[in-house]
Amino acid sequence: MNVLLTGGTGYIGSHTAVVLLQSGYRVVLYDNLSNSSDAVLEKLAQITGQPIPFIKGDVRDTELLISTLAAHRIDAVVHFAGLKAVGESVEKPVDYYANNVQGTISLLQAMQSAQVKTLVFSSSATVYGEPQFLPLDESHPTSATNPYGRSKLHIEEMLKDVAASDPAWGIACLRYFNPVGAHESGLIGENPNGVPNNLMPYIAQVAAGQRAELSVFGADYPTADGTGVRDYIHVMDLAQGHAAALAFLSATIGWHAVNLGTGKGYSVLDMIQAVEKASGQRVPYKIVARRAGDVAACYADPKKAGEALNWRATRTLDDMCASTWRFQQSQRLSVMS
Ligand code: NAD
Ligand code: WQD
Repeated sequence: MNVLLTGGTGYIGSHTAVVLLQSGYRVVLYDNLSNSSDAVLEKLAQITGQPIPFIKGDVRDTELLISTLAAHRIDAVVHFAGLKAVGESVEKPVDYYANNVQGTISLLQAMQSAQVKTLVFSSSATVYGEPQFLPLDESHPTSATNPYGRSKLHIEEMLKDVAASDPAWGIACLRYFNPVGAHESGLIGENPNGVPNNLMPYIAQVAAGQRAELSVFGADYPTADGTGVRDYIHVMDLAQGHAAALAFLSATIGWHAVNLGTGKGYSVLDMIQAVEKASGQRVPYKIVARRAGDVAACYADPKKAGEALNWRATRTLDDMCASTWRFQQSQRLSVMS
């Protein structure tokens, strides 16, 4: 089976490429490199022992997508491509709707034209908005608190209409919780440009001495230690969730939303401690005010993924932190060499 990964050179796409190749899929990566580098292709070849076809292109280029789907005889698409920074989306909503919503419309037009009707979409737990109950299951009402989240919600709803219009479509919207960690080789991982927005890359840079201290956004939440609680999921578990979703769609039609999370919540202080343990380094921090828009706690009910996809996360918090640290160290060595 031939699978196109839009956004395939990005953080989650590159890890999914490894898992899909190792599960026997043929994989083609498609990315405009706006938030990744083609240097990852060499690393992927090192890990998998084979070169991976790559097309540099934008998902809004419908013609290029149509020719790519035909040339590589694509059977299914995993759609990672998009912008993902919540704060930036508030400042540049048009860019977010253009890349995420318009990009998906373009992909759907190309898929329709090429008669490719199997799609796995990178959705997010952000579509649940402010949690009304925990753990979050797929029946929790959806809403958006920022343009990024709204773009994901618009796409999910569009995809539901598409699936309802033609029974040939099989679509899985995978609602990721908080992806962290890296491939065990340390060769690929999350490498954000500039100041990291997310907790884990920030902590890793503090542990590595690249940043002086972490700001903990609020210690007065109604959680066990007062800091925010999230469902961190190892990116390799997440990647395996995509293989499971493709297997599910090979026998199923229609639209499906599925949480990919562990069901466990860890606080910011838990994460600091776990990275300190994995790295043997101290992570200095200071408590500052809450970050606007943050919720106290957010974690998944992963039952549906177990039942429908026969998938569950198996890696521990220690695995997440050890692999993050290994990647951090290998990055440092490659910068020095
Ligand atoms: P990433 O930025 O590392 O990867 C996204 C890739 O898409 C990048 O390589 C970027 O160059 C590419 N891209 C962006 N716009 C494009 C366009 N118009 N045409 C072609 N390529 C384009 O991000 P990631 O963390 O790997 O996220 C992948 C997907 O998962 C995104 O859709 C994101 O919204 C979603 N997601 C991520 C998280 C997270 O915390 N990382 C959580 C939930 C959902
Ligand atoms: C985690 C916890 C912060 C940074 C975001 C998006 C979400 C999804 C995943 C894509 C929170 C605290 C963080 C720091 C801190 N992305 N924190 N100091 O906010 O759960 O989710 O990424 O879909 O849509 O909103 O993740 O890693 O930013 O924060 O104290 O420097 O760490 O307050 O409690 P979040 P995060």
